[in-house]
Amino acid sequence: MKKNDILKQSEVFTLEIGRNSKCWCGSGKKYKQCHARFDDKYNRLLREGKIMPNRSLIKNEQQIEAIRKSARINTGVLDYVAQHIRVGMSTLDIDTLVHEYTVSHHAIPAPLNYHGFPNSCCTSVNEEVCHGIPSKDCILKEGDIVNVDVSTILDGYFSDASRMFMIGEVSDKAKKLVEVTKECLEIGIAAVKPWGHLGDIGAAIQEHAHKHGYSVVIDFAGHGIGLEFHEDPVVSHVGQKGRGMVLVPGMVFTIEPMINEGTHHVYVDKKNGWTARTKDGKLSAQWEHQILVTETGIEILSH
Ligand code: MF3
Ligand code: CO
Repeated sequence: MKKNDILKQSEVFTLEIGRNSKCWCGSGKKYKQCHARFDDKYNRLLREGKIMPNRSLIKNEQQIEAIRKSARINTGVLDYVAQHIRVGMSTLDIDTLVHEYTVSHHAIPAPLNYHGFPNSCCTSVNEEVCHGIPSKDCILKEGDIVNVDVSTILDGYFSDASRMFMIGEVSDKAKKLVEVTKECLEIGIAAVKPWGHLGDIGAAIQEHAHKHGYSVVIDFAGHGIGLEFHEDPVVSHVGQKGRGMVLVPGMVFTIEPMINEGTHHVYVDKKNGWTARTKDGKLSAQWEHQILVTETGIEILSH
């Protein structure tokens, strides 16, 4: 859709809706007590030429509560993995932990059969950037760094987060990459302000990564999430401050920077069609949280 079409649509929409009739968000509240002020601001920014999220990306309280429940299980899965992960375990053993915890909480692992993905989580070791496929032949050894990326569907609502795990004693350079990548995520989250811009996130992450001599992966990004696994917007981990979509209360998305020791270039394994690795074989790390933009700031939904 072109920007002008959106402008026309939303103006008509706001004019048509009576202040005492029910809000478009589905909250059941009167429009004037719900999104009326939100719409004034939204339409003003739209008229100023800003890129605004489609209304389908703005979650209501009921949807947010359902996503929270899904996200609680998702965080629980990662806590469970954290308790059990150890040297000598295969990445398929991690997958088993994820699957068992998820189904015993009456939820579904979102990656399983997603576009043909064969397992319940992604496990990406050392130079693997993301979307590593759990395998009985991949045994975690002392010094490895591994990302476990977990996504959950509960009652049709989606959550997503990932963490790095360091196996036994790891080298100082691996440890530093893992720590700086976590800082990149935290700095990216701190850059999210209601009515701020999407580009603020990438700008903050990229600045921090480059300061430490690392590169930022651009071929993979964070994403809107909630009613679907992957929704708009694409949340790039590089960007320019003040640019891109306006971040409005009710948006839910992931921030999941992949930070490389060497080149930012990656390639996807041709044999399995999924696993992304660094082109130069150097280390890569990733941390991911799922967040909600609120009227006053953000809420971390899954971590
Ligand atoms: N959490 C991952 C992401 O958002 C999941 C990728 S899809 C999968 O990129 F099938 F690989 F799991
Ligand atoms: Co994700």
